[in-house]
Amino acid sequence: MIENSFVLYGNIIYSEDKDTLKIFENSYAVCVDGISKGVFAVLPDEYKSLPLIDRRDCIIIPGMTDLHVHAPQYGFRSVGMDCELLEWLEAHAFPEESKYADTEYAKKAYALFVNDMRSGFTTRACMFGTMHVNGTLELMQLLENSGLKTMVGKVNMDRNSPEYLCEENAEKSAEATLEWLEKSKKFKNTKPIITPRFIPSCTDELMEKLGKIIKEQNLPVQSHLSENPSEIAWVSELCPWSTSYGDAYRHFGMMNNKTIMAHCVHLPEEEITMLKENGAFVAHCPESNMNIASGISPVCRLLAEDINVGIGSDVAGGTTLSIPKAMALAIQCSKIYWRYIDKKYGYLNLENAFFMATKGGGKFFGKVGSFEDGYEFDALVLDDKSIATYVDFTLKERLERLIYLGTKHNIKNKFVNGVQLF
Ligand code: GUN
Ligand code: FE
Repeated sequence: MIENSFVLYGNIIYSEDKDTLKIFENSYAVCVDGISKGVFAVLPDEYKSLPLIDRRDCIIIPGMTDLHVHAPQYGFRSVGMDCELLEWLEAHAFPEESKYADTEYAKKAYALFVNDMRSGFTTRACMFGTMHVNGTLELMQLLENSGLKTMVGKVNMDRNSPEYLCEENAEKSAEATLEWLEKSKKFKNTKPIITPRFIPSCTDELMEKLGKIIKEQNLPVQSHLSENPSEIAWVSELCPWSTSYGDAYRHFGMMNNKTIMAHCVHLPEEEITMLKENGAFVAHCPESNMNIASGISPVCRLLAEDINVGIGSDVAGGTTLSIPKAMALAIQCSKIYWRYIDKKYGYLNLENAFFMATKGGGKFFGKVGSFEDGYEFDALVLDDKSIATYVDFTLKERLERLIYLGTKHNIKNKFVNGVQLF
């Protein structure tokens, strides 16, 4: 039979849509050549010759997508949380990221990050590196070896950054980007994504050059949008020609269905309409939004408007790579938003959070995040025996317990596009 073809037997759960979990007790998930053929209560004859992996006591779910994470910030996670965004960047993020000019340091530090991501719930991720070409290529090589499927950005920053972490000018930054893009062509599962850090750290001239590269090479783009009130006020000073922060990206061709905007906490109506009309993706990062006191995203409204939303850990604004932890926090802070700010759109439930972590964020990678026919087969086999209880739970309740109480030690097996990582 073809490589990466097998049948997983057990209790299978995936999202049909943002409000619906499909739950199959004692069923078969079929993977042929890395692609899902669907879930069956009775195994069809045509798949009976495939190897069967029997996980009858476990819960099998799609892999999770981390739609926004800073790989070079992993080393100082959970330190320096008592400040707001702009102060935090100066005091913590920029000094640490400057160390990645040293490729040997980058290699060692990124190895820790990649090993931890590989052993966790994440099968797909979109991440920031640093402005350094060689360090970012080291990160991409480690990810390529890991079996994960990711998009990685060499960061662009040519203004309002400390001298030790600032590209000389727009031209040098664009040249370095082209060199990095050329050198990333050798990777199969690790793709480049254009990454202007955020509007305050990129001149209009640089944004124009990056917009041109995006258009010429048909590339995706990731950045930060409307995270913090001081940041937003600064953008309107820096780009007096723009009608909103989002407009400052749209102006340079960075607001479409290959765009991820992280945070989106303080959105004017214009930005909500813009995200919706252009099919852009929002990376909702609840832990970071609380840690650096940014606020709470109106994520229920975004889902109700059918805007594409996934979950981001935003390490090191967030402290952990655990997407289940981010799901629980997303649910919890949506309840605070509902209680204190706006009751109109309700609060997140388990279905909503599971959707964002799997099919919602996975959509940025194509048909990813489900076991429906034709989806790339990313799967986690979860064993909840160690989360002790005498209570007899339903499958949905067992999933809920795994989200709130589970750790990477509950992951028995992990598959990405049909390849077994462990
Ligand atoms: N805005 C610009 N850079 C960053 C960063 O590194 N983290 C977060 N959370 N927001 C940013
Ligand atoms: Fe971020």
